[in-house]
Amino acid sequence: MNIRKATAEAPSNLAFVKYWGKRDPKLNIPLNNSISVNLSNATTTTTVEFDDNLERDEIIVDSNSQPGASFSKRVIGHLDRVRDMAGVYSKARVTTVNNFPMGIGIASSASGFAALTVAATAALKIDLSQQEMSSLARLGSGSACRSIPDGFVEWVGGHDHQSSHAVEIAPPSHWDIAIVSIIVNKAEKKLSSSDGQALAAQNPYMEVRQRLLPKRLEIVRSSILQRAFDDFGKEVELDAVSFHAIAMTSPFMADGAWHSGAYYWAPETIEIIHAVQEWRAGGVGVYFTIDAGATVHLICPGSDLNRVSSLAADLQSAKADRRWQLITNRPAQGARVIAVGEA
Ligand code: PMV
Repeated sequence: MNIRKATAEAPSNLAFVKYWGKRDPKLNIPLNNSISVNLSNATTTTTVEFDDNLERDEIIVDSNSQPGASFSKRVIGHLDRVRDMAGVYSKARVTTVNNFPMGIGIASSASGFAALTVAATAALKIDLSQQEMSSLARLGSGSACRSIPDGFVEWVGGHDHQSSHAVEIAPPSHWDIAIVSIIVNKAEKKLSSSDGQALAAQNPYMEVRQRLLPKRLEIVRSSILQRAFDDFGKEVELDAVSFHAIAMTSPFMADGAWHSGAYYWAPETIEIIHAVQEWRAGGVGVYFTIDAGATVHLICPGSDLNRVSSLAADLQSAKADRRWQLITNRPAQGARVIAVGEA
């Protein structure tokens, strides 16, 4: 009997400059670089155990041994990549636990595929550089490559498998910022982010977005390094709106009907945007970003976390029927092995 087993923990990440649009959809090579931070309070822990006695791969997510077919297919496809690298063809038992709910606007695919990549390669003793690990995680889910390095991270878009990987801009301790995510609902989106990504390249406004991005990336990168909060926040907020402008002007079919674009925002998302503008006018340093969903992520200096959390809580209690969920995160380290076992 030959059992090879390892456990890894990986954070999800939040993009400050968004990845939206692929140059190569098969390899998840993006149209542009993106910048993100790892999230301290949204992690996935995955154990991968290759076992010659197994007849097929077993995948257990948050105690559910029957995760959806398309998810299982993606996980098995990723295990196959790792098996090919090692020349090992035993089946595996994959046990994954997320410490945050799925479908709330914090990507469990980023943390999940980062943890899977690190655990599976450690179990088979494949020695990879951080860059190679990041490229490999990217094949599982694009944004997973950003969960490999520590802290503040840039995904260098690149032009092929080797050149498309994430690098650390600064460690988590470099800058004390906080993120308060307001989950306003858990409604399923009409356009999945992978379908939205596929439409982006042909969007006529994409050309303008791409033209503006090199300067934006430069500002976000340098304002992180200089801890220049307002310069940073303005660019981050502008980028979120620019990405949504692309989504809102990308026509698609859903439920048998034509849609002129994807409105990921809920009415409450707009209310929060207005509130952020008012809070700023009142002297509070807070900016927002929004991914492909209704959840609003408020970004503030760590020292203002209590103030921003209580403003968010007050806004929630302004209407009795609101069932929001607030999650707080700080910059965190990247994916790592937490246990290696052999029997
Ligand atoms: O990794 P995907 O295909 O789920 O796309 C992520 C897209 C955004 O969250 C909207 C932006 C980003 O860079 O994370």
